Amino acid sequence: MRQKERRSGHKPPAGSPGHHRRDERPSRPAKAEAKPATARETMREATVPGANERPLKSRTGDRPLERVPVILESSGAGDFHLIDSGNSLKLEQYGPYRIVRPEGQALWQPSLAPHVWEKVDAVFTGDTDEEGTGRWRFPKEALGEIWPLHLLGVDFYGRFTSFRHVGVFPEQIVHWSWMKQQVEAAGRPLKVLNLFGYTGVASLVAAAAGAEVTHVDASKKAIGWARENQALGRMEKLPIRWICEDAMKFILREERRGNTYDIILTDPPKFGRGPNGEVWHLFEHLPLMLDICREILSPQALGLVLTAYSIRASFYSIHELMRETMRGAGGVVESGELVIREAGLDGKTPGRALSTSLFSRWVPK
Ligand SMILES: C[S@@+](CC[C@H](N)C(=O)[O-])C[C@H]1O[C@@H](n2cnc3c(N)ncnc32)[C@H](O)[C@@H]1O
Repeated sequence: MRQKERRSGHKPPAGSPGHHRRDERPSRPAKAEAKPATARETMREATVPGANERPLKSRTGDRPLERVPVILESSGAGDFHLIDSGNSLKLEQYGPYRIVRPEGQALWQPSLAPHVWEKVDAVFTGDTDEEGTGRWRFPKEALGEIWPLHLLGVDFYGRFTSFRHVGVFPEQIVHWSWMKQQVEAAGRPLKVLNLFGYTGVASLVAAAAGAEVTHVDASKKAIGWARENQALGRMEKLPIRWICEDAMKFILREERRGNTYDIILTDPPKFGRGPNGEVWHLFEHLPLMLDICREILSPQALGLVLTAYSIRASFYSIHELMRETMRGAGGVVESGELVIREAGLDGKTPGRALSTSLFSRWVPK
């Protein structure tokens, strides 16, 4: 997830950033893509090291219009809200549980009294380095590993993971509500691709709204958890393809086959691994990933949504990449940050905005 490598010696599972060593680069030789260039596009050699599965396309149309900066803010939804933050920590409500986790962005002091922060159900402890693993402490009573949660009409399990995460990134709700509206308003079954789909909450939201969903993640564990979530909400009959594969490999194949999607969500980690050791390195591979995503957008596509966490970059980096990639497609690229607004103990008292990630979204209008 949103961490860099683990420090222990053992081999972490596929999908986890710990699977990656900084010095590793993909060793596969460059392969030419057979697909012919369109009239407006010519092929050129990839200049991106390690991202040479096919050359990038040279895009020559106008860049889409732009809307910047866009701050997409959520103040909680369903079972979640951010209660308070400060002292490099955040205090969150996830269903019945109050949880304290490290939060590097919270440079200020907490608003609520220390006793509120002490009377919580779970605290993530141990390695508080942004990217490390650690342990959970349960100050009141020992809690089970999982518990049910509800968001945007879907059920799923929260889980105390050793990476401090609990199975959902609630700031993403702004993208998921947008996607839900698109699917519900489309008047046709939209095809949604969820790349790096993790525990599948976005996939369930899309499918519940009426979309045909393809969910791709490299981690067997994450796919298993996503299927458990599907079963929890009795949504087994919804059309979701759960695919355990390297995201780049999958989209390259979809491009070769000419398969397209109406909405693509992509939430790549900074580092990751495919099930067969394929290396994902955001700064190396994102240009090609977006390039391929553009090719597999359907002619009536409704959006391409990218989020990026824990990277040393401005939202302009992904904004300009998105605009270059979408040259000639018309529409608008809007980019900025996803933030969560503190909502207090009652979930209704607005406080400070906590920044969580960068995003860039192309939409046709
Ligand atoms: C940042 S999380 C996605 C979070 C999710 N979209 C959400 O907001 O709830 C990253 C996911 O990418 C997966 N992953 C890492 N490397 C991958 C790769 N090469 N191909 C496919 N999935 C990968 C991990 O297993 C993890 O589930």
